[in-house]
Amino acid sequence: MARIANCVFFVSMASAAQAQQFSIPDLTPVETQGRAIFSRSCTICHLSQQLGTGTFGPQLSKATLDGDASVLREVISNGMPHMPGFKHMYQPAQIDSIIAYLKTVPAPAPVSPNAAR
Ligand code: HEC
Repeated sequence: MARIANCVFFVSMASAAQAQQFSIPDLTPVETQGRAIFSRSCTICHLSQQLGTGTFGPQLSKATLDGDASVLREVISNGMPHMPGFKHMYQPAQIDSIIAYLKTVPAPAPVSPNAAR
């Protein structure tokens, strides 16, 4: 009995992992636009390339800067010491769409040595 239960568990885990990898979440048109801009202009620094290699910029999510849209707008528009500003490249509405998209990105689980328990 326990063996069958395990089996079902693994199958459902596998399909959950697949869904996560391949399905495109339901986004509004604005969020979709933001995602397109994000993948074009931001992922080069903000997406982890491979596990363990880290990113140049921090990983971004709905939790970034406490999700404060006005602070996010300021950072994205004017940049930071190691990040270019985008106010000459994108209209305010486009920057807002990036923020709308970021608010759909779940916060990454905190990295902790106890995580695998
Ligand atoms: C050239 C690499 C680079 C690009 C391209 C880039 N960033 Fe950044 N970003 C950084 C770095 C590095 C930091 C960390 C602050 C610093 O060192 O300047 C950062 C910080 C941030 C922060 C603040 C995060 C925090 O927790 O303080 C936000 C928000 C952000 N970036 C959004 C974006 C968005 C949106 C784009 C695309 C429009 C983008 N970045 C493109 C490198 C980049």
